[in-house]
Amino acid sequence: MCGIIGVASKKEQAIPMILQGLKTLEYRGYDSSGIAYFKENQIVITKTKGRISDLEQQINFKETSSLGIGHTRWATHGEANQVNAHPHQVGKITIVHNGIIENYQELKAKLQENGYSFLSSTDTEVACALLDFYYEKTNSVTQAIQAFIHEAKGSYAIGLLCQEEPDTLYAIKKDSPLIVAASNDTNFIASDIPAVLEYTSSYYVLEDEEYAILTKDHITFYDKGGKVLTKEEKHYDASLESPNKGSYPHYMIKEMMEQPDTIWKTMQPFLENGLASLAKLPDLTKYDRIDIVACGTAWHAGLVGKYFLEEYAAIPVDVCLASEYRYKRLFLSPKVLVIFISQSGETADTLAALKRVKEEACHTLGIINVKDSSIARVVDQVIYTKAGCEIAVASTKAFTAQVAILLLLALQAAYQKNLMEEKQVLAVIEEFKHLKDHLTPLLAKRSEYQKIAKELYKQEDIFYLGRGLDYDLMMEGALKLKEISYIPSVCYAAGELKHGTISLVQEETRVIASCTNPLLDPKTMSNLKETKARGAKIYLITNNVELTKDKDIDSVFLLDQTSEFLVPFLVIIPLQFLAYKIALLRQCDIDKPRNLAKAVTVE
Ligand code: F6R
Repeated sequence: MCGIIGVASKKEQAIPMILQGLKTLEYRGYDSSGIAYFKENQIVITKTKGRISDLEQQINFKETSSLGIGHTRWATHGEANQVNAHPHQVGKITIVHNGIIENYQELKAKLQENGYSFLSSTDTEVACALLDFYYEKTNSVTQAIQAFIHEAKGSYAIGLLCQEEPDTLYAIKKDSPLIVAASNDTNFIASDIPAVLEYTSSYYVLEDEEYAILTKDHITFYDKGGKVLTKEEKHYDASLESPNKGSYPHYMIKEMMEQPDTIWKTMQPFLENGLASLAKLPDLTKYDRIDIVACGTAWHAGLVGKYFLEEYAAIPVDVCLASEYRYKRLFLSPKVLVIFISQSGETADTLAALKRVKEEACHTLGIINVKDSSIARVVDQVIYTKAGCEIAVASTKAFTAQVAILLLLALQAAYQKNLMEEKQVLAVIEEFKHLKDHLTPLLAKRSEYQKIAKELYKQEDIFYLGRGLDYDLMMEGALKLKEISYIPSVCYAAGELKHGTISLVQEETRVIASCTNPLLDPKTMSNLKETKARGAKIYLITNNVELTKDKDIDSVFLLDQTSEFLVPFLVIIPLQFLAYKIALLRQCDIDKPRNLAKAVTVE
């Protein structure tokens, strides 16, 4: 989603630094971009629809500057075009903004009554006018910011320049991430730390309703009332970063290939000393019930977690979409644990649901990938996944890392409740330690995936079917395909098919299914045969050799026989690969699929 970078430097390098920062933020998803900088005390603005490379073509690189702001916009209010792109300038104020000003219509009407007119359809231009309105009244940017925080509703991370203060960069934040960072010669603001990692790993986190004033030499933080704040300087551990694609053509494939390592890194602290390490995990047996709250792929990880927590640890679990949970009636008590799962730690719906739960008397646990992200800072307890920086919009290694933590939680709770014996738990731990041996050959079957992808990439739709755990994993497989290849992929619980959806199955319909549960496999197989009878072609992922002999199955990915605890990691690999290979054949922009953003920081 939108990205912000701002630079106040001792060097005249602000323009290349801002552009470099914007390129690092590209992965968040955007459809236009822009930059504003001071040149001889005047603000120069360049903005355009399209990629950063389009923006670069319009920039006069002969000019230099030491202070400016840049933005990548993912359209919310108003289409993606040059007028709606940021920065916006009204009067003496120029801003870039992430988030949504919810009361912008009301504010717009008030500002129009006061003589303001608007060129764009954005809420950001209204925010800019509001800041200018108060600046004109008070002749003080800080007083304008305080009035803005008081009056604007919604979410905002804002970088601000004032025409009359060419040495100063302002930052304002509420419910949308913004960090402030410092190197020897330059101070920065940014949506996330990777945008400035090339220059510094030391940073400060702006909290809600705080603002900061940056010059090339100083950074000062304030609360909404103008009181100076002392902030802890944080240091980003860049050792987990994978800042470039290496020899891979896309981040997505690179991140898929990293999974044996990222799953292990995530699990290792809880496995290295057997049961003693596992006991470092939070005790889930204290709770009568668990709610898992997340969005998208993280929600699918939650479904996998539910399966294991219920089946092995006998703890009832609800898995809720954060966008629903934040508004629904909640049944919470100190006996309910609420787990929030998020790669970015910034997803607006998940964060809002968490803030709501924090008002109740119940414990919150985060399973988060990005350190010190907003959700990680608000939950009572956090377990970090060690997936490292995930750049591709389609989440792969973050998903398997989230699943890894949930499996360990289920294993530990099952052991504590005597539902699994010590030797069974130790056997699973031993298998986890050798997971790589199962994953590496699966990741190497590229020609097999390519062959199937060639059979599928021209399809107008593809069905995904499964039961139980297989259904959860198929949902994630179907999401991966639709995200990056734009093929409508419908995922159904196999048993539900004949209650309506089978009407869509016809000659040459393609069905992908997985069967990894001996109790459920015969049921799923008979559902698959129902599709076969109507002309479908069936692609089966299974660890059951017997099923490979069935003549109704057109193609099989045979997985190693393992404990069920390893199954999610094995099933997901062919699904990720199929999505990737199909998208490649369809010549899609794999790492930056249309309309999608990496961190969804608006509702
Ligand atoms: C899918 C994908 C999204 C995210 C979802 C939640 O590949 O990436 O569905 O999983 O937007 O994001 P996080 O995990 O950052 O909260």
